[in-house]
Amino acid sequence: MATMRLDRFFSSQEILSRKEVKEAVRKKEITVNGQIANKIEMQIDPQTAQVCYKGQAVLYEPFIYLMMNKPQGVVCATEDKIHKTVLDLVPKELFRSDLFPAGRLDKDTVGFVLLTNDGDFAHRILSPKSHVSKRYEVRIDGRITAQEEELLRQGITLADGYVCKPCTLTLIDDCENPVYEIILIEGKYHQIKRMFGSVGRGVLFLKRTHIGGVELDKNLPECRCRKMMHKEIDQILCK
Ligand code: URA
Repeated sequence: MATMRLDRFFSSQEILSRKEVKEAVRKKEITVNGQIANKIEMQIDPQTAQVCYKGQAVLYEPFIYLMMNKPQGVVCATEDKIHKTVLDLVPKELFRSDLFPAGRLDKDTVGFVLLTNDGDFAHRILSPKSHVSKRYEVRIDGRITAQEEELLRQGITLADGYVCKPCTLTLIDDCENPVYEIILIEGKYHQIKRMFGSVGRGVLFLKRTHIGGVELDKNLPECRCRKMMHKEIDQILCK
């Protein structure tokens, strides 16, 4: 692992700003491998150095992975002049300045958004080659025929001529405004809305419930996020 400056070590973990590290060094509050740190420029190996601040060990976590239950009205972006973004919902203790959403949901779509600062991991989730599935619940504004369901399953052609990949489509609530579970292995712009639009139906409600092999935590209220467990991070890439 490459070494990094002491002040960068603290600021990358959002523990202390560079200015605060300077102050802490001046007050002899930081030790590295048992020795008092005397320069903010000192190089340390973040993976192996034993860093303590005010006597407490500081664990180095290069990457963070958050599961968020996105509400309606919030955009999947790192900044927006008009709307609240998913980053605005991340509490201070989980916030990192390099966080971003790995994949987008529309402003009116709710459910599972993964936020991370691990670019390689995000790329693997989003790359069509990885085939990481995304599962949604979708309520539409009227019934469709069995034939139309089959067209959607086999890969419907959108208005712009794009032929969708086959998907899994299961009716889970058969009523006037039916609810389907749909599993996609691709993520085109407004894909589900455009797929149902191709059979003359509008989407009334859309929620992402799974990414890969991980289900959105049913105990996670809307607008909240939590760190993902190691097991979950591995399971994301399964399917
Ligand atoms: N498909 C859509 O149409 N919107 C989303 O937010 C996700 C998938």
